[in-house]
Amino acid sequence: MKKTLMVVYLSTSGNTKRMADAIAAGADSRGINSEVVSFYDVDLDKLRSADAIAIGSSTFWYKMHDAMEKFLDRLKPLKLEGKVGAAFGSYGWSGEAPVQIAQKMRELGLDVIDPVLRVQWDPEEKDLKECERLGKDIAKALKKEPVPVA
Ligand SMILES: Cc1cc2nc3c(=O)[nH]c(=O)nc-3n(C[C@H](O)[C@H](O)[C@H](O)COP(=O)(O)O)c2cc1C
Repeated sequence: MKKTLMVVYLSTSGNTKRMADAIAAGADSRGINSEVVSFYDVDLDKLRSADAIAIGSSTFWYKMHDAMEKFLDRLKPLKLEGKVGAAFGSYGWSGEAPVQIAQKMRELGLDVIDPVLRVQWDPEEKDLKECERLGKDIAKALKKEPVPVA
C-alpha cells in the first residue's frame, strides 16, 4: 500500500498553488500517493489518515492569511502527532507565512522538515524543481525505517 501525502494550500493568484502541484509531483515520482487540495475544501478525515501533510500559504501583511490560521486551529482535535510535515509558500518581500505555518504544525506535533520552502512571486522553473525536491524529501522521510528502541 502506497504512503499518502496531502498538500493543502491557500493561494490568491495561483503562485502557492503551483508550488503545491510541484511538491505533489516530486513525492509521486518517489512512489507516494499525493493529493493537492485547497484549505477550503479539505476533508478532515482524509487529512487525519494521510501519512504526511504539507501546508502552504502566501504572505499577506507580514503573516499568513487569517483564514489559514483558523484552518490550522481546527486541526488540533485531529491528533496529527508524529506525521511528517512541511510548510511552503510564495511571497513578495518578507515571507513570514511558511515559518508561522511550520511553527503551528510543530505545536500540533508534526515532524516538520526544516527549512521551510519559500519562493518569491511566481515560481520559475528552478523554483518548481526545488518544490519537487521537497516532495522527494517528504517521500524519503516517509520511507525511513523506525529506529528500534533499545
Ligand atoms: C495586499 C497584499 C499584501 C501583501 N503583503 C505581503 C507581505 O506582507 N509580505 C510579503 O512577503 N508579501 C506580501 N504580498 C505578496 C504576496 O505574498 C505575493 O504576491 C504572493 O506571490 C502571492 O501568492 P499566491 O498567488 O499564492 O497568493 C502581498 C500581496 C498583496 C496583494
